[in-house]
Amino acid sequence: MRQVNLGMIGGGTVGSGVFHALQLNGGLMASRIGVNVAIRKIAVKAFDEPRPYEIPRAVMTTDWRSVVNDPDVHLVAELVGGTTLAREIILSALKLGKPVITANKALLSAHGEELFATAEKFGANLYYEASVCGGIPIIKSLREGFVGNRIKALYGIVNGTCNYILTRMKLEGADFAAVLADAQKQGYAETPPDLDIDGWDAQHKIGILASLAHGFWVSPKKIHVEGIRPVSALDIKFARELGYTIKLLGIIKRNDDLRLAIDESKGRPARKSKIANRKCRVQVSVYPTLIPNSHVLAGVNHVFNAVFVRGDIVGDTLFYGRGAGKDATASAVLSDLADAALDLKLGTKYRLPPFVPHECAGAVMPIEDVVSQYFVRLNVADRPGVLAKIAAIFGQSKIGISSVIQPEGHEGESVPLIFMLHYATNGAVMKALSKIGKLPVVKSKPVMIRVESFE
Ligand code: HSE
Repeated sequence: MRQVNLGMIGGGTVGSGVFHALQLNGGLMASRIGVNVAIRKIAVKAFDEPRPYEIPRAVMTTDWRSVVNDPDVHLVAELVGGTTLAREIILSALKLGKPVITANKALLSAHGEELFATAEKFGANLYYEASVCGGIPIIKSLREGFVGNRIKALYGIVNGTCNYILTRMKLEGADFAAVLADAQKQGYAETPPDLDIDGWDAQHKIGILASLAHGFWVSPKKIHVEGIRPVSALDIKFARELGYTIKLLGIIKRNDDLRLAIDESKGRPARKSKIANRKCRVQVSVYPTLIPNSHVLAGVNHVFNAVFVRGDIVGDTLFYGRGAGKDATASAVLSDLADAALDLKLGTKYRLPPFVPHECAGAVMPIEDVVSQYFVRLNVADRPGVLAKIAAIFGQSKIGISSVIQPEGHEGESVPLIFMLHYATNGAVMKALSKIGKLPVVKSKPVMIRVESFE
């Protein structure tokens, strides 16, 4: 096969971006992979909808079924977004045995298991590089580049909107609400902004990466998510004084003891059945996190995304780039187009199944069991004995304090009191803070932000 015909569903920002990118670099791609990807038809909502790049009228239709069902369309790209119509489109194409490319993280997060099972059943393949972190080739890296590694940890700044807001809060000392309002005015944040700032967009992406990295399907319901609304200018200020930057971080961390797989079989790899029966416990979470300023992720600013991956063989690696936007997303779709075209050309549609279970059954750790360090900010009455009362509760809960800051205040008034806590379980810290929050000397709800030291 020297030419593969593409049917695209969606001619908006991403769809027209892909059309434009193929016009620009389709020839280059063909010379690299030895097969030409030709656009046969693009299904759009309306011919005259606003789009950043023009699409010729002759290539458009408003009937997506005619594109999917066209026997001369070998490959389908779903670029409409949402979870209802997009699901129908993908299922229809997969059932015809056609490979599908999607950029749809929300759909994969909600229906990934069903879509992957359908692809397998009908001998089709599903490609989804553009679903996570736009132009950063993180899916391909996890599936292929790190195929020989166990993923010990993955830390991702995967939401550009949150990173933009937190960066400006840090640089300008501004409050969350003011920066959000301005970001919306400038088009950096959606209205309403909930999907981004409450962490749900990051949840979709981190769930996909966790599933890929660990080979068990991570349901979004199992992912502990906290957004950036509660982060205040005061938190950023104190974090800075302590040498930290606050980022919304997706964390995927394997917590079982990998040595067991070797120990139990006396130096040889454990039998497959033994490994299959063991559960690997993985932290999968999204929350604002204090990152040491010396860590490379602390310098990832504005709308940029970055993913830091630690493999057991490779060690630490870093991926950085634009996580959204028509061109970055188009670059990821083109990468999938090339893979799918090569698979069609070579008849290797199972070369890389979209999702495969790994060596052991896995489970997401409940957040209460996750061990971390903590930054705690309290607003307390500045009176003798207050610090002792709070320290006693941490002590009774077996939580160590690594440092305390109290800016000079006026006796009798409320002052901020900042604690840095040693490693403890989230469960223990949440319980202790609930007790502390009830003390009459504590004037508002305690703020707790986890600290990541990347050890
Ligand atoms: N809204 C996302 C972000 C981009 O702010 O990063 C699309 O996933």
